Amino acid sequence: MNPQNTAASHDDGAQGDASDRVRIFDTTLRDGEQTPGFSMDRRAKLRMAQMLEALGVDVLEAGFPQASPDDFAAVSEIARTLQGPTICALARCVPGDIDSAGRALERARHSRIHLFLSTSPLHREHKLGMSKAQVLDAAVAAIERARGLCHEVEFSAEDSTRTEPDFLAEVFSAAVAAGATTLNAPDTVGYTTPAEMAERFAWLRRNVKGAERVVFSCHCHNDLGMAVANSLAAVGAGARQVECTINGIGERAGNAALEEIVMALKVRAAHFGVDTRIDTRKLYPASRLLSQLTGQAVQRNKAIVGENAFAHESGIHQHGMLKHRDTYEIMRPQDVGIAETKLVLGKHSGRAALRQRLQALGHAPDEAAMDGIFARFKTLADRKREVHDEDLEAIALGQDPDALGPWRLVQLNTSTHLGGSASASVRLRHDDGREAGEAAIGDGPVDAVLRAIERATGSDLQLTDFQVRAVSEGGDAQGQARLTARHDARDWRGHGVSTDIVEATAQAALAIVNRIARQVPAATPAAVANL
Ligand code: KIV
Ligand code: ZN
Repeated sequence: MNPQNTAASHDDGAQGDASDRVRIFDTTLRDGEQTPGFSMDRRAKLRMAQMLEALGVDVLEAGFPQASPDDFAAVSEIARTLQGPTICALARCVPGDIDSAGRALERARHSRIHLFLSTSPLHREHKLGMSKAQVLDAAVAAIERARGLCHEVEFSAEDSTRTEPDFLAEVFSAAVAAGATTLNAPDTVGYTTPAEMAERFAWLRRNVKGAERVVFSCHCHNDLGMAVANSLAAVGAGARQVECTINGIGERAGNAALEEIVMALKVRAAHFGVDTRIDTRKLYPASRLLSQLTGQAVQRNKAIVGENAFAHESGIHQHGMLKHRDTYEIMRPQDVGIAETKLVLGKHSGRAALRQRLQALGHAPDEAAMDGIFARFKTLADRKREVHDEDLEAIALGQDPDALGPWRLVQLNTSTHLGGSASASVRLRHDDGREAGEAAIGDGPVDAVLRAIERATGSDLQLTDFQVRAVSEGGDAQGQARLTARHDARDWRGHGVSTDIVEATAQAALAIVNRIARQVPAATPAAVANL
């Protein structure tokens, strides 16, 4: 890597606000993943990153390397592996964060350090205890340091929508002079409105010195439900980068949803006059993958990717649709990657049909992975009459939920007794060759299994949340179990999938035990404090 600002060459020269291309900056793995319920391990993050690459995002924010050794490892693995998008790492304007981001990005084909510092009076006074001059100096020093460690630098003025416009323009002008090539004006607390957003971006483009040399970016949170509308207003006023997440996941009420922004720009192209490089047929697979990896369902009526997004129930609508689709449909399900007919596979389906279906769902397993997936598919097809897309996704991702070990489930027996109590016995194998078997009684089979696993592995898990849902249709549907347990003053999450919900629960518990067993030394609290 030649550490200098080369944004223009990587961007095909499409720089500045006059361009008609909007860059999609995906922060699912940073702003999204840091949210409770959406955490992912390294393997899941890499899988999601590969999907985002296939989707065609321009910039992929892979994490915050200084926050934890796990985050550092995930960012560097993604930086080493992906070839398409610019890989971005977040850093506060402090040397430790910047150097850590630079190291994590070392192997990236094209890298960006994303620096952020609060500029609003509220944050300056109560969070940072810094004067305007100190904020300005810290931003400039950080940008100058970061420039030597990556290809390009983005500067974000945190809480920008509550910052005095003159001061914001002053900080941004200094950031351009110091070498930042993207200026991000986040609506950190989801406070602004579309009209204000448009006014703010137009004002910044007129008043920031060097505005013509940089890309203006928006990053909107959804606290008042206006993240997408605010982002589109920013685009209308010249922003040429939008920061967003798949399914709109993110802090509190979330970030602007990538799929909504992209489809609004596409469906209303004549209105916005801009385009993105996103392959929209991968939007639905990306949404599904995230949901599978995190175990968090997408709300049914979610725009673009929700189950009801293209369902027409009312008789009047159905009648109109039959006469002419455009009466009630402004885009086709296939435009976002939803297959018109859902192909159902069964026990007579072969490997080629399975591979084809997996590819349509956004999975491209290699031959070795395909062996395992096909074996699990056959087992499932013997148990279930029909294997649905959702089952296939679960198999493709969870073919071995505890694949990373060290504990693996070898045997599980449960019996329930009239009156509520139940007993369970488990046999587990450790990667070091040890075997452990334990039995326990509990208030129901789930409780009994958890106790048996705790005993067998010597763990202490305090269950704080437990959810089960069907991943597909029918009485023989696979069930997904999601567990959250408290251990060592931290919340740990795991999920498992099986046609037997008790087995799914055992897998979820084992995933937690394994995660704890594999943990790398925790980050110093100071590393993540004061964000
Ligand atoms: O919401 C925010 O302000 C952020 C910054 C780090 C860009 O996420
Ligand atoms: Zn944010």
